[in-house]
Amino acid sequence: MWTDTKFTRLLGLDLPIVQGPFGGKVSSIELTSIVSNLGGLGSYGCQPFYSNEIIEITNEIRKNTNKPFNLNLWVNDKDEHIEDFDQNAFETIIQLFQPYFEQVGVEPPTFPLPESPSFENQIEAIFDVKPHVFSFVYGIPSEDILEKCRQLQIKTVGTATTLDEAIAIENAGVDAIVASGFDAGGHRVSFLDKAEESLVGTFSLIPQVVDHVKIPVIAAGGIADSRGVKAAFALGADAVQIGTAFLATQQSGTSNIHREKLFSKDARYTTLTKIFTGRLSRGIKNKLTEELKDFQTNLAPYPLQGKIVGKLGAYPANTESNPELKSFWAGQAAPLLKYHHVKELIDNIIEEMK
Ligand SMILES: Cc1cc2nc3c(=O)[nH]c(=O)nc-3n(C[C@H](O)[C@H](O)[C@H](O)COP(=O)(O)O)c2cc1C
Repeated sequence: MWTDTKFTRLLGLDLPIVQGPFGGKVSSIELTSIVSNLGGLGSYGCQPFYSNEIIEITNEIRKNTNKPFNLNLWVNDKDEHIEDFDQNAFETIIQLFQPYFEQVGVEPPTFPLPESPSFENQIEAIFDVKPHVFSFVYGIPSEDILEKCRQLQIKTVGTATTLDEAIAIENAGVDAIVASGFDAGGHRVSFLDKAEESLVGTFSLIPQVVDHVKIPVIAAGGIADSRGVKAAFALGADAVQIGTAFLATQQSGTSNIHREKLFSKDARYTTLTKIFTGRLSRGIKNKLTEELKDFQTNLAPYPLQGKIVGKLGAYPANTESNPELKSFWAGQAAPLLKYHHVKELIDNIIEEMK
């Protein structure tokens, strides 16, 4: 039976299907709860939220499901050398974006840029609400945090973009690994080397990781229908994490304009860009990604870059604004998308896996 795997046994799930968490405020309570109610693992991306908001979100999820669900955080919440980003560096970037601010007719942001929630603050909410699963990207939490999760019976899931990262995650005592190929939509969440130096495709990554670790491996990146699920299982995965295909459904928290883009021909053309947040991520090409292609090294560090392009309506993705300046996260499998409702997507995978 394809549903009986190390991963489904670990969590007591009916289906080895994880709905990928979405940061940037495009997760939704509805999507998370429906996926969990259907027997998979619904996830909620808590990256943009303070701990009090994470507690409220979790209470809402619990009103809608009593099945296991996953809360997700970004361990490394600031780029290196962020302290060196001063008024001068800020002014240089504002100059680069000035024509776009004029085009939209908005004033650029002013220095200093507002604060963002810290991982240190967010993890307290995880301890407080005790989700069944806590997944994370951009690093591995400290030994103390992982030990506390064990005491609280929270299962942990780390994310690897290379074999070395997968081995480091297993050695830290984490319960399962998402192995994320560079086909995936959203950020490249590498933590041992630069993301640009860690671009391994899903088909290459999964079997390497499976050969070297004992804990369950969840394949992510480029899986949008049952063919992708079958391929991932053939490569030895214990589950799949699907992002873009869930993001495209009516139940996700993204904008309608983003959903339309995902189902359009434009979704054939994705690119890896730092323009939207300062960190490398995959989205659909547009005027902003293409005109500023050569300026990838002249941007503000994460999370400050997002606050600059955010003024253009580029970010977060859940707002309806100028499509030529907006972040439209999408994976390379986006041209395969068919389903507008989460239940149709899951039912179709179940049917074709029989
Ligand atoms: C809009 C968007 C936001 C994402 N945000 C996160 C996040 O905050 N944390 C995370 O672990 N993964 C995040 N991901 C990755 C997904 O959870 C998933 O692993 C990935 O989309 C799988 O590849 P696919 O898009 O080809 O299906 C994001 C993906 C997208 C498309």
